[in-house]
Amino acid sequence: IIKDSITGILRGKKVLITAGGTREAIDPVRFIGNRSSGKMGIAIAKAAADAGATVELVLGQISIAQPVNPQISIYQVGSTEEMQKKVTELFPAADILIMAAAVADFRPARVANQKIKKQDDQEQLELQLVKTTDILKTVAEKKRADQFVVGFAAETADLVQNANKKLKSKNADMIIANSVAGNNGAFGSDLNQVTILQLGTEPVQWSRMTKTEVAIKLIQLLATKIK
Ligand code: CTP
Ligand code: CA
Repeated sequence: IIKDSITGILRGKKVLITAGGTREAIDPVRFIGNRSSGKMGIAIAKAAADAGATVELVLGQISIAQPVNPQISIYQVGSTEEMQKKVTELFPAADILIMAAAVADFRPARVANQKIKKQDDQEQLELQLVKTTDILKTVAEKKRADQFVVGFAAETADLVQNANKKLKSKNADMIIANSVAGNNGAFGSDLNQVTILQLGTEPVQWSRMTKTEVAIKLIQLLATKIK
């Protein structure tokens, strides 16, 4: 799998990509986050740029360097709500949306204005969480026929079955399922083993390869999907 093979295949296309994890504030100094490194989404952004696309990259919390590329515009966001606003704003102009971000499913019901202090006699703290908006689902509901939407599915069990449910419930054209279980999981790793799901076709399991290679193969596949 070589980078040169994708040169120009997405020229003139606009690709909107989310990467990294969202952060949901608890108080001014604390948040609920997740283990997403941003590596997969950033690798896709780089591959899309190599393919000649204009890339809008909406970034949550990441643990690697931001890409520096004249074709990639970066929008830094914190919470799921901020990410939703940015994606909703940028989606109408995009040919392809790829939701690689690890988005919080729940956020604290209330955000404390001041730092939460522990009391001497306090042994427990209860946080009430409320569901966030499903960005992928909400945005894909408004998808035009000329737009292609790709979601990810992070699973620790029943990978294909769970990912298939997400393909249908989220109005996505494609779901990239990856295991986040144990030491072979995708979080933080440079390697990924994914299964590609599309409506009306059998799931296709790709071999374990670097995230850069997954990104290149994905861009090759997406180029065949859009006019
Ligand atoms: N996603 C999203 N908004 C959310 C939650 C998830 O847009 N509030 C997107 C993710 O970016 C990913 C896809 O939905 O592309 C699947 O995310 P995942 O966490 O695997 O699935 P969920 O639908 O959140 O279900 P669960 O976590 O319960 O498995
Ligand atoms: Ca989730």
